Amino acid sequence: MLADLVEREIKARIAEYGNPKVACIDALEVASAYYGWISDDCLRDLAALLEMTAEELEATATFYNHVYRKPIGRHVITVCDSVSCWIMGYESVRDYLMSRLGIGWGETTDDGRFTLLPIQCLGACDKAPAMMIDEELYCNLDAAKIDAILAAHL
Ligand code: FES
Repeated sequence: MLADLVEREIKARIAEYGNPKVACIDALEVASAYYGWISDDCLRDLAALLEMTAEELEATATFYNHVYRKPIGRHVITVCDSVSCWIMGYESVRDYLMSRLGIGWGETTDDGRFTLLPIQCLGACDKAPAMMIDEELYCNLDAAKIDAILAAHL
């Protein structure tokens, strides 16, 4: 069952757009902002509100990088794995992060601090390798820089 606040906000968007399905991305954003991630129950409730099947909404949810279908940590690290970053040391960054955090792709540290995910080009190719933590971009990464960045995210 969706929280009243979430349901009210989504109904307002549906009324604004005049078509429930058109509000599906907004609905996922609203629910993500409230819950942090989209559980199966939440997905079903959202789909019913949007007059979609759960499968249709799932296809939309899994298309977007910032819609999470599993619980996430306090900070989400997304590491660019596109061409410029590959050339400029992506593998070292990936391996260092995985070793430092003790997790693989899609996993969250035991203390709930970080979730690690790959992502396509972050638009900082001239400053590769790059990653984001939450909404902040970090470039020209090396081990020392990563250590400092992680230390600043409690
Ligand atoms: Fe990594 Fe563009 S390829 S930021």
